[in-house]
Amino acid sequence: MNTKIISTAIGILAIVALAWIAWPGKTTHTASNSDSTAGSSEATNIDIIDINDDNHEKGATMSGKPLVIYFSRADENYEVGTVDVGNTALLAKVAIDQLGADSFEIKPVTPYPAVYDEAIEQATAERNAGARPDYIGDVDISGYDTIFFGYPIWWGDLPMIVYNFVEDHDWSGKIVIPFNTHEGSGNAGTYQTLGSIMTGATLRGDGFNLAGHVARTSEGQARMKTWLTGLGY
Ligand SMILES: Cc1cc2nc3c(=O)[nH]c(=O)nc-3n(C[C@H](O)[C@H](O)[C@H](O)COP(=O)(O)O)c2cc1C
Repeated sequence: MNTKIISTAIGILAIVALAWIAWPGKTTHTASNSDSTAGSSEATNIDIIDINDDNHEKGATMSGKPLVIYFSRADENYEVGTVDVGNTALLAKVAIDQLGADSFEIKPVTPYPAVYDEAIEQATAERNAGARPDYIGDVDISGYDTIFFGYPIWWGDLPMIVYNFVEDHDWSGKIVIPFNTHEGSGNAGTYQTLGSIMTGATLRGDGFNLAGHVARTSEGQARMKTWLTGLGY
């Protein structure tokens, strides 16, 4: 490893640690976050695009119909009570409508428990085991240049089912635009993580993150729309 890679890895670890500290939901649980079995966040071979960087043509992301891929969990959740549609799913719907995009929801074959504490337990076990939970169906991403990719932060990281989906697909030549919800952790370094695991893709660094309970409000959804408009959609 050269020094750039080492400093990138240290930076990512610092972001994840800070994200972990920022999420108040963790304080009611005793789950371990210090594992090495979660997905890799090592060296990235992908550009993290700065929207202010004139070397990257914004228009390059705008050709063809985009695809919105997302994972979201409904039922009881932190800050929002019991809901029929998850927080990230609400933002995904805004994107699908505004972009006129095709979509694919990553749905677990074995649903997560509806009770929040039980879902936390299951997610923790999956993380500690480095599990790759199965999802229902699939989508052929080969025909799409631009893919919006949405998910919640779980344990300062991507949910393990998201790792599974990412690892199952060929991201070569794709432009990936991430969005996520959380309750204090921001994007928790996951845009860089995606950059490291979506081999061959270009990950836009100007993704969008929003607190889950805000995503449920008209104001939050208006912020999503404004972000999409800012990207040129
Ligand atoms: C298993 C689990 C772990 C979570 N870990 C974090 C976390 O580390 N940081 C954070 O800010 N929020 C965390 N949350 C809160 C979710 O990110 C937040 O509620 C999100 O909006 C849920 O999105 P969804 O409804 O689309 O699933 C966690 C929630 C669950 C269920």
